[in-house]
Amino acid sequence: MNARLRAVETRLAAAAPTNIGFPAARDIDYGPLAPLLGHLLNNLGDPRVDPLYPGHVHDLEREVLDFTAELFRAPPGWSGYLTSGGTEGNLYGLWLGRTKLPNAVAYYSSAAHYSVPKACHLLGLPAVEVATTATGQIDYTDLTRQAGRHRSRPAIVVATIGTTMTEAVDDVIHVHNALDVAGIRHRYVHSDAALAGVPLATTSNRPAFDLAEGADSISVSGHKFFGTPVVCGIVVTRRGPDELGPAVPYLDTHDTTISGSRNGLAAAMLWHAMDSLGEAGHTARARRARDVAAYAVQQLHNIGWPAWRNPLSFTVLLRQLPADMATTWPLPTQDGWSHIICMPGIETKHIDHLVETIAAHGGYPHE
Ligand SMILES: Cc1ncc(COP(=O)(O)O)c(C=O)c1O
Repeated sequence: MNARLRAVETRLAAAAPTNIGFPAARDIDYGPLAPLLGHLLNNLGDPRVDPLYPGHVHDLEREVLDFTAELFRAPPGWSGYLTSGGTEGNLYGLWLGRTKLPNAVAYYSSAAHYSVPKACHLLGLPAVEVATTATGQIDYTDLTRQAGRHRSRPAIVVATIGTTMTEAVDDVIHVHNALDVAGIRHRYVHSDAALAGVPLATTSNRPAFDLAEGADSISVSGHKFFGTPVVCGIVVTRRGPDELGPAVPYLDTHDTTISGSRNGLAAAMLWHAMDSLGEAGHTARARRARDVAAYAVQQLHNIGWPAWRNPLSFTVLLRQLPADMATTWPLPTQDGWSHIICMPGIETKHIDHLVETIAAHGGYPHE
């Protein structure tokens, strides 16, 4: 590497120990894939159809999708593809919803990711924001109230499975019940499970969010829980192969995805994460991350710093840090609360470092 790129590497390595506010796992070694960097891997077109272009890894993509569909209990006939990230997954889910229910109104909570209102805007979907509870979950009573105002029109609801700030999880069964009470029969539910979908699917007491519990589509980011060193995502839907998009004769494939060229290296990385660890390995990673999150809450309480977390979450909310800590510890902050996210690879030593630094600053300023 030349000096300029080495400097980037040095900067990233220096930031790593205190970079604990963002959801990127760092415990999986993707080094073995380095030889693939010498090839352009492009998974053009529908993953079920091998395209004419030889530099694809559609076979690996299909195995990644099979693994994910099983985790999310997809019914027979499901389909999906690897996206550029959670944002494209949300756009795709809403696009399918609008295709199925052209006259629909879209609903999402005020804690939904900013990509959701953006996708509604792009699709020309009327969008209604629903209130949240104090912990960040969608307020089902408000959903009923808001949907009741448009009861002559179908509903598309985006349930957030791990909100960006508090990792709150909307319950898809409660969403359906809220629409029942509002008198809305025709509906489509997309689960935006960017961070929490895969880890929640490994728990025995998983909340209701997947395709077996009434979601029509579900999307995740690949660079979050799997920590792939390239940005990517996965979307799985109950839509069947009979709805293959139009043919693209010159590529010998079908146009079913939002992006045409798609990142085959990401497919290989996700395949590596799934193949090398399997479901048992990812279950253990998620359990360990929750233990570290519980440890963080406890250690912060021990020094009197207000902190809490939602059940099963990796995210720990803590009162905003003193201003002079904010540059070294870049933690996302809203309404006086910051968060750390105990992703796999974040260990108790990282938490100890944070807690010791806060304590050295004099702890929580009680009036
Ligand atoms: C709940 C939620 N949905 C969607 C996204 C967007 O995912 P991506 O950054 O992979 O596009 C995020 C990103 O933080 C998120 O937290």
